[in-house]
Amino acid sequence: MTQEEMILQTEKFVFRELNGEASGHDWWHIYRVTKITKTIAQQENANLFICEMGALLHDIADEKLNSNEAEGIEKVREWLIHVNVDETSISSIIEIISTMSFKGGGGPPMKTLEGKIVQDADRLDAMGAIGIARTFAFSGAKNQIIHDPNIKPREHVTKEEYRTGKTTAINHFYEKLLKLKELMNTDYGKKLAETKHQYMEEYLEVFFKEWEGE
Ligand code: ADP
Ligand code: NI
Repeated sequence: MTQEEMILQTEKFVFRELNGEASGHDWWHIYRVTKITKTIAQQENANLFICEMGALLHDIADEKLNSNEAEGIEKVREWLIHVNVDETSISSIIEIISTMSFKGGGGPPMKTLEGKIVQDADRLDAMGAIGIARTFAFSGAKNQIIHDPNIKPREHVTKEEYRTGKTTAINHFYEKLLKLKELMNTDYGKKLAETKHQYMEEYLEVFFKEWEGE
């Protein structure tokens, strides 16, 4: 199988696995993250195959889709063997996916350039116009309100609190989205994040004006 065919087969596999997932990890999230990954990978001269496969598979091992993370990672390994990806590439791809699945910002840094790129792409999809849409979609799904001036953003939240604590959609900007710009790994990722960050700041400015009837 050529690498091109491996990618096509993997796209179909991921589509089958994630189609209809409504928690923000749907197929179109993967589609967007893969596109941004390819753009950054070209700018940073990274290994395109590892980057693209890493992006396509980055959410398959998620704890929300598997009974545990190890099981999810095993599923990805089996898939890669099934489509005849070589051993070295399998290690690189698995390394990206297992490091990325640490949530809440407290995870270890990505080791390889390819990993840094996929992580940047995933974070970029939480920013800008798409990031805003995902935040409100997530909030609706969790019965979380849009905004309440009396509920303040949380400062230092543990992974547990981040997942279960009461907050609002607007607070999510302060708890996560506006911090992402500083977490970018690659130069090109930083550049893209700058524009998206700016857009979210402008959005919040208009939001608070409208909130006060201006
Ligand atoms: P990821 O680990 O890829 O960021 P999450 O499951 O944490 O995935 O989040 C999926 C989407 O929902 C992201 O766009 C994220 O910013 C948003 N989100 C996560 N937690 C909240 C929350 N408490 N309120 C609003 N949006 C959230
Ligand atoms: Ni993701």
